[in-house]
Amino acid sequence: MLAFLIILAANAVATNQDWHPAVDPALLRQIRQDSPAGLMSVSNGAPVTYCEVNSTLNKPLIRNSFLMDHVTSMDRERTCVRTVHGQGSGAFGFFKVTHDLSHICKASFLKEIGKKTPVAARFSSGIAEKGGSELSREIRGFALKFYTDEGIFDIPGIVTPMFVVKNPLYFVEFIHAIRKNPALYLADPMKLWDFVIKYPEAMHTFLLMFADRGIPLSFANMPCYNVHSLQVENEAGEVHFIRFHIEPFEGIKHLTTAEAQKINAADLDYYTRELYNRIKKGDYPRWNVSVQIVSEEDVQKHGGLMFDVTRVLPKCDFPLHLLGEIVLNRNPTNHFAEIEQLAFCPANLVNGILGAPDKVYEARRFAYADAQLYRLGPNVQKIPVNCPLHVPTEYSESPGEPVSYESTNKRGLLKIKEEEPYNYDQAAELYENELTGDERTRLHENLILAISPASEFVRERVIEILEMIHPDLAYQVAKGLTSTMAE
Ligand code: HEM
Repeated sequence: MLAFLIILAANAVATNQDWHPAVDPALLRQIRQDSPAGLMSVSNGAPVTYCEVNSTLNKPLIRNSFLMDHVTSMDRERTCVRTVHGQGSGAFGFFKVTHDLSHICKASFLKEIGKKTPVAARFSSGIAEKGGSELSREIRGFALKFYTDEGIFDIPGIVTPMFVVKNPLYFVEFIHAIRKNPALYLADPMKLWDFVIKYPEAMHTFLLMFADRGIPLSFANMPCYNVHSLQVENEAGEVHFIRFHIEPFEGIKHLTTAEAQKINAADLDYYTRELYNRIKKGDYPRWNVSVQIVSEEDVQKHGGLMFDVTRVLPKCDFPLHLLGEIVLNRNPTNHFAEIEQLAFCPANLVNGILGAPDKVYEARRFAYADAQLYRLGPNVQKIPVNCPLHVPTEYSESPGEPVSYESTNKRGLLKIKEEEPYNYDQAAELYENELTGDERTRLHENLILAISPASEFVRERVIEILEMIHPDLAYQVAKGLTSTMAE
C-alpha cells in the first residue's frame, strides 16, 4: 500500500508540473512496471476494500465495485468462435532467409540471407468444432503471420497443395456440407458426398485427405500450402507468380485411422499437448519455406491453369526454390490473447506481393476481414498479436505530410480468364504415380469407411467419379463397398 501511495504522490507532483500520463507513454509504462504487485484493484485502478471482497451477503451489491467489475468482465470475456477453423492452437517463432529471392520479389522480409522475421502460427481443424476431438480426418488449416518490417504478411494455408473448389460461391455450400446435421446436431457424412457429387473437382483434394494427409502424426509433421499463385514484383517492376510450400523438416507423416482412434480415446487434445510439450523442452519444430515460380511466359503458355486452386503446379515443370526456414520456439503465455485473437487475412500483403488474380482469392480478401470485424470488432488490427511491428513514419520535406508508397507495378493484378474446373488428370496422376502402394490401400479403406453410410444412389455416383479418375480406384472402392454392404 505504501508503494502505491508513493506512486500516487509522484503522479500528483508530475501533474502539477503539467505532466500527464496520456502524453508520456514511457513514463506511464514505468509507473505501471513499478506498481506494487499483489494490490487488488478494480478496472479503473482504485484499490479494493476488504469488505467488498469478503462480504456480499446482506449488502446492496450495486455499490460493490469489485463484484460489479468482476461479473461484468466475466459476462463479456468470450469473443465469438471463428465461423470456420474454430478449433485450433498455435505457437510463435521466426522465419529466417537462407536463399535470396530479391530477383523475383522485393518484399523486405525475403531479402537478406540470415534476416529473421517473427512469425505466429496457428494449426486448426476445418471440420471439428471448437472443443471437439483434434484427431478427426480433416482438411486442416496451418496459418502463418509474418511480422515483417514493412507490415504484416499472412498465409492462411492448408495441408493440401490444392483446394476443394475454384468458384468461391461453392465454398459456403462446402462449409455447410461439413457441418453437423441441423436437425440432429450429429455429423452427417451424406452431406459431404452430396457435395462431392455436385462438385466433383473436390475429389482431387479428398483423395489426398483420405490417403493419409487428413490425420498428421503431429503438428510438426504438417505442411502448409497457400494454394494461390501470388503475383509478386522485383525492384525493376518485373512480375512473377509464386506458390508457397512450407514443409516440415521431420517430413510429412501421418497416423492411420486405427492409430488416431486409439489416441482419441485417451486424449482429445493430443496435437496441442504434443506441440506445447515439445516447445517447452526445447525440441523446436521446423519447416522449410520454398516457392514454385511462374513467369509471365508460363502464363501466356498455360493461361488460367497457373491460377486454378483445384490444381497443383507440377513440380517437374515448376520446381521448388528454397527460401528459408521457420522455427517455432515459443509457446503462448495466454491462449485467448495470443491464439484465439489472432486474425489471419489473405489481404494482409506487403510491398512486392500483390495478391492473386483468381476468384477464390478475391472472395477471401473480403471474407476474412468481414468475419474478423464481427468476431473481434473494429480494432482487430490493434489487438497486440495482430499489430504490425512498425508503422512506417517516413515524411516528405514538408513536415507532417506522409509519403505514399510508389509501386513499380503500374499494371496492377493480372486479369485472367478462368475456365470451368477440370482436374481428373491430376487426380489420376496423384493416384497412379505419387501415392505408394500402402497409401493407395489405406485410401481405399478410408474411402470405403466414409462412403458406406451414404445411400445407394450417392455411392453409385461417387464410384462414377472415381471411375473417371482411375478405373483401379473405382474398382477397389466398389469391391470394398460391396463386401461391406453384404456384411
Ligand atoms: C472462397 C473461399 C474461402 C472463404 C470465403 C474463406 C473464409 C474464411 C473465413 C471467414 C475464416 C474465418 C476467419 C476468422 O474468423 O479469423 C477462414 C479461416 C481460415 N481459412 Fe478460409 N476461406 C476460403 C478458402 C480458404 C482456402 C483456399 C484456404 C487455404 C489455402 C483457407 C484457409 C483458412 C484457414 C487456415 C483459416 C483459419 C485461420 C486461423 O487459424 O485463424 N481458406 N476462412
